Amino acid sequence: MIKVSKFLCFVLTILAITGCKNDKEVALNTNTSSSEIVEAKIDSIISLLTLEEKVALCHAQSKFSTKGVERLGIPEIWMADGPHGVRAEISWDDWAYAGWTNDSITAFPALTCLASTFNPSLAEQFGVALGEEAKYRKKDVLLGPGVNIYRTPMNGRNFEYMGEDPFLASKMVVPYIQGVQRNGVAACVKHFALNNQERWRDEVNVEVSDRALHEIYLPAFKAAVTEANVWSIMGAYNKFRGQYTTHHELLTKQILKGDWGFDGVVVSDWSSTHNTMEAALNGLDIEMGTGTDGLGTTTANHYSNYFLANPFLKALKNGEIPESIVDDKVRRVLRLRYRTNMSNNRSLGRANNKEHHDVARQVATEGIVLLKNDNNFFPIKDETGITIAVIGENATRSMTKGGGSSELKPKFEVSPLQGLQERYKNAKIIHSMGYASGASVYDNVLPSPYDADSLRTKAIEVAKQADIILFVGGLTKSHLQDSEGDDRRQYQLPFGQEELLRDIKNVNKNVGFVMLTGNAVEMPWLDSVEGLLQSWYLGSMAGHAIADVISGNVNPSGKLPFSFPKKLEDNAAISFGPESYPGVDLTRINDNATLNLESNPPVSPTQEYKEGILVGYRWHDTKNIEPQFAFGYGLSYTSFELSDIRVDHQDDSFTVTCGVANTGDMDGAEVVQVYVGKTDSKVQRALKELKGFSKVKVNKGEKQSVSITIDKADLAFYDESISDWNLEKGDYEVYVGNASNNISKKLNIRIN
Ligand code: BGC
Repeated sequence: MIKVSKFLCFVLTILAITGCKNDKEVALNTNTSSSEIVEAKIDSIISLLTLEEKVALCHAQSKFSTKGVERLGIPEIWMADGPHGVRAEISWDDWAYAGWTNDSITAFPALTCLASTFNPSLAEQFGVALGEEAKYRKKDVLLGPGVNIYRTPMNGRNFEYMGEDPFLASKMVVPYIQGVQRNGVAACVKHFALNNQERWRDEVNVEVSDRALHEIYLPAFKAAVTEANVWSIMGAYNKFRGQYTTHHELLTKQILKGDWGFDGVVVSDWSSTHNTMEAALNGLDIEMGTGTDGLGTTTANHYSNYFLANPFLKALKNGEIPESIVDDKVRRVLRLRYRTNMSNNRSLGRANNKEHHDVARQVATEGIVLLKNDNNFFPIKDETGITIAVIGENATRSMTKGGGSSELKPKFEVSPLQGLQERYKNAKIIHSMGYASGASVYDNVLPSPYDADSLRTKAIEVAKQADIILFVGGLTKSHLQDSEGDDRRQYQLPFGQEELLRDIKNVNKNVGFVMLTGNAVEMPWLDSVEGLLQSWYLGSMAGHAIADVISGNVNPSGKLPFSFPKKLEDNAAISFGPESYPGVDLTRINDNATLNLESNPPVSPTQEYKEGILVGYRWHDTKNIEPQFAFGYGLSYTSFELSDIRVDHQDDSFTVTCGVANTGDMDGAEVVQVYVGKTDSKVQRALKELKGFSKVKVNKGEKQSVSITIDKADLAFYDESISDWNLEKGDYEVYVGNASNNISKKLNIRIN
């Protein structure tokens, strides 16, 4: 007996060490002995590499790949955008699409929509499906998710992120990453950190307090690292306290790799590296895209001129930089390979299959937020004899095109009009474009090819013939709208939509608005619509999801992941003027020319996050500024009642329990939200902050019980006087409701 088990042990050890055992299991298995074997293998590889080979692992060899080491069988690394689908193949050396015919994928909803579901298990399904598509496309690193915080509605890239609340973003990003990485594909959480606007992103310097940094801007990244064990992270373009964030002494070196113990790879954003010594010493591991800032410039032998290429090699050779620095980077990039492409049994993945389309549709339907529903405008029955006019450019415009790096080439994209036409078989659907804008291209605003007056006249005629108007409008994925590269310039709806809505209303009062945006907009027209659905950018299944909700096949349950201020000045960052957003050139602060930021952009802008921790609803609540629509808000076709709300204490946590009764006549889902505020704090606090939530499905006439446990440690604030978290003793208020502005009960707890 003893002899047999000794022999078995021997065989297993040999198999593990020689790599004959399933490599992926070894790489993915977190138990110490397996990771010890992987780390030992990495050490032995490092000892075989020349300095040139090591350096070559630390920078790009093409737009989206890095070199391998052929003689040792170490593969290249291939990366692809992005957060809500795998981007089409890009050329080797420039930003042009490669024109492949086998790179179309499923477009999943953008992350504002995912956040609106308040459903972490759906985030995991999203991640699993997306990871499978990345693997099918032979990608090792998926450049997403993005968790920069929604600071102002002007940020062109808000649609790619998970809203204004660090707790919500943390809860959603962790399962997303776990889902992607389960496939042996690395997620790359981005953009670390403080890339909360696109305007002047390459040069703007951000000044923010330590407290806001730790309480608002870092938690989702921290959760990605410490809870989800994300395998890579992307630096940002902007500076923080005068230093570029991609190779930042405090952010990347001390906090990320030191305090959080990140053992993965820091990848630069495309062209966010600026300095060899800082890149080498402050923790950048792979440099990508230098000299190609999205505008497509490139030079001969470009990749060897990167900061982490020849200049790095030179500094290593002459002893300015110790070899242990490059060894640490190589160790991380090899670890990334063991986690991804250096596994024997990596499956092939799959794309465009029914299961992925179902996930995309479910996220889309659960993320749509019903903002207004006077006289039960929605759902709209499919009845013979009624005519529904679908008016607006977004009814037919592709929303997977444009937007920058998250642009997608889906195999198909069901438009809202198509979805409605397929769903409504009895009612008559008529359509008119109503208004138009130009095509979505990067960094440029193109004019509409159509005559605005003719479009409007036609739409009014169509509106007169209809019983119900569905106005499908909002923003587009174009430059100066919801897009990478720059910010919006206006808070109002663009392209004459406000006027068109007014004219339609004059001939037909029965108007519902289906709004496709990734951002809040001003709503002076709100009284003139009966119903309003916030519909985001929903990807391949957009039209089906919208039709599901409009028809009542799905009861909406989405909640806003950010506040909609009534007017732009009600937003915290904006209220402090250009020094807070979008930034100013301090050397020219007394120069009147700086006031015209459009014609005279600052060369070296800096901005101060003067609102500190009071971002989003924290600002609206604390300063008593009523938003148009509040964080966490969203209606349903049924009604819910929260009852028997109470709180129970455990040693290190407390549990809120309540009953959720569906008192209407349709099955539905509700999100119970728990916010906590500190009374008599020694520091400024937000009135309340989200600390727990739970989405629960309740059939009509039924009641479910919900319980949400919160760690007491989560009530701590970041105390700048000790540079650490501080849990104040004393009284706290616990607010339980179904929106930040709809609290059913307030309770008191005491921390001793
Ligand atoms: C974006 C990143 C993106 C990269 C590669 C950059 O311009 O900021 O989010 O992953 O390009 O396309």
